[in-house]
Amino acid sequence: MAIRLGDPAPDFEAKTTDGPVRFHDWIGSGWAILFSHPKDFTPVCTTELGAVAKLKSEFQKRNVKVIGLSVDKVEDHTKWAKDIEETQGAKLNFPLIDDHDRKVSGLYDMIHPNASETLTVRSVFVIGPDKKVKLTITYPASTGRNFDEILRVIDSLQLTAKYQVATPVNWKDGEDVIIVPAVSNEEAKGKFPKGWKELKPYLRVTPQPNRN
Ligand code: BEZ
Repeated sequence: MAIRLGDPAPDFEAKTTDGPVRFHDWIGSGWAILFSHPKDFTPVCTTELGAVAKLKSEFQKRNVKVIGLSVDKVEDHTKWAKDIEETQGAKLNFPLIDDHDRKVSGLYDMIHPNASETLTVRSVFVIGPDKKVKLTITYPASTGRNFDEILRVIDSLQLTAKYQVATPVNWKDGEDVIIVPAVSNEEAKGKFPKGWKELKPYLRVTPQPNRN
């Protein structure tokens, strides 16, 4: 069944390149990203896994754990990791799930049969500390994902969770944000001491709260 925003992220047990994982326990109390790869030893995935490994400190800064999945065995993942290091200049530094039986890809609806009966699409799930799904993205197998965009969305999600703000079009960390309509002007006075610009009663712009 399709997974929608706000749904509980299905829990599972799986073998990974870092040993067995029970997903919810592995997430712990922070945020997580689960992302799928159509198959081992494929070119686009090789570049993506190298890029994500290089972003490790960015994910750590945001308290986000990352886990990948590919529909092959852990023995193949381990061999593939050598190619990733050799060609991308980065060692795989997060677990890659062995999903040769398609158990997890089935749970997360990562196989779209009209695209391919056997390979996963490129899915991304961002999961919050409450184990609920906060973001889903689906790319075709032929298009590598933009992990700077995924970091940008995580920044937005974390701001919303903490400060009751939303982020406007093309927003980047450090830029002005929008006070959510559920917050009245009276409440906003306490929550946003830097004030706000009211372009319309429903469009109130304020400096990013966690910046000087
Ligand atoms: C790739 O990762 O390069 C890939 C996988 C499946 C289809 C096309 C490209």
